[in-house]
Amino acid sequence: MGLFDRKKRLPADFFQGATDMHSHLLPGVDDGFQTEDATMEGLHYLYGLGFRQLILTPHVMTDYADNNRPNLVQWYDAFLPMADGCGFSTRLAAEYMLDEQFLSHQQEGWLYLNPQEKILLVETSYMYRSPDMEEYLYELTTCDNQVVIAHPERYRYADRELFGRWKESGYFLQLNLISLAGGYGKPAKETALYLLDAGMYDYVGTDLHKISTFAQWLPEMRLRDHQIDALHKLYENNAELYGQPAKQE
Ligand SMILES: [Fe+2]
Repeated sequence: MGLFDRKKRLPADFFQGATDMHSHLLPGVDDGFQTEDATMEGLHYLYGLGFRQLILTPHVMTDYADNNRPNLVQWYDAFLPMADGCGFSTRLAAEYMLDEQFLSHQQEGWLYLNPQEKILLVETSYMYRSPDMEEYLYELTTCDNQVVIAHPERYRYADRELFGRWKESGYFLQLNLISLAGGYGKPAKETALYLLDAGMYDYVGTDLHKISTFAQWLPEMRLRDHQIDALHKLYENNAELYGQPAKQE
């Protein structure tokens, strides 16, 4: 690597006008922001970085039994004036855990990242590979749904062969931004850089749960020019994913 391929900070205006497609800003519904005040701080923080569109993705999993679609829609409607007041355009989606309850959510209708394209965000346990994961994902895609797998770099059971198989199956992969800075440890950072360099990511999210962790790690990020270009492309994909502001059907 030559003199001109040094690792750099992201340009100051890197996030200007950007879309975030993964966050836990909806107050008090999961392990993310717990109060309206904290959420307001989170909104101001993201606005200050330059973000202007947000897709909210509260956890839907057995640990949060009340997070069904009707409740989330109601809570989102209460949250909406806060986001509007801050100058954001937002959409409610969800981050679905591939647990034993997963397919039951289908009956009430998925909360999509993109309702027109039927694109859905899913996650798995960090530690264990769900034995039913492939079956769930197959079921989903037979109904014309498209799948984004959240933060693959964080899954300790996953290896390069599995990432390759996910991509061959047509699943999209979503990077957690601060994985690139080491925010989830060295192995996750190395995996994230591998997937970024291999062109295997499709989207990027903050996965924001609280400001302090994110704000601590973001300034630590140093990337090479081609990696900054790759990240920029992921934000273009995010903007396309958001598309025109649209309500869930
Ligand atoms: Fe998340």
